[in-house]
Amino acid sequence: MDTYYKSLLDKNKEWVKSKLDLDPEYFQKLSKGQSPPLLWIGCADSRVPANEIIGAQPGEVFVHRNIANLVVHTDMNMLSVVDYAVNVLKVKHVIVCGHYGCGGIQAAMSSKSFGLIDNWIRHIKNTYRLHQEELDSIKDENKRFDRYVELNVWEQVFDLAKTSIIQNAWNSGQELSLHGWVYSIKYGIVKEVISKLKNNSQLDTVYQLDF
Ligand code: CO
Repeated sequence: MDTYYKSLLDKNKEWVKSKLDLDPEYFQKLSKGQSPPLLWIGCADSRVPANEIIGAQPGEVFVHRNIANLVVHTDMNMLSVVDYAVNVLKVKHVIVCGHYGCGGIQAAMSSKSFGLIDNWIRHIKNTYRLHQEELDSIKDENKRFDRYVELNVWEQVFDLAKTSIIQNAWNSGQELSLHGWVYSIKYGIVKEVISKLKNNSQLDTVYQLDF
């Protein structure tokens, strides 16, 4: 057997042992159910592991990840995760977390075709179009890239706020805050792009739903 692959199974056994050494009931307790306070919508990038960068334990974060942490309102996968998290698990916080150096954002900045993924990347290009004036005015390409990452998170948080799921929860008085973060792979630190969105009043009126 391939040694890397085999090491994964060995590491699993070691991890189980380390948990049981601290608490023999650890897995029995976890198996009773979950009630995480947080939903994480992050990039699929291997360097941005949701639990690890916020020091969260198993059972603490409900996670959805895709390329460039997008909230695409026809994405049944994302909608199902958000619906379950908000309406069943009753999470109190949703963090959309992007990261500097995101390959998805970099691809969206260029005109190069990457194949099928172009159709996913196109959602990111919409953000460029919405903020073209600001982005085009940044002459330094790295700085423009960083700002594009931040604006992408900004737009995804607002796209999340536009969903019927989030607006319905707010309308019914559920305690629910949306947050936009950008993680720095280089330094490990998070920058808050949107610290707290708690109602739909900042949405353009055409997106505000009456229930
Ligand atoms: Co990324």
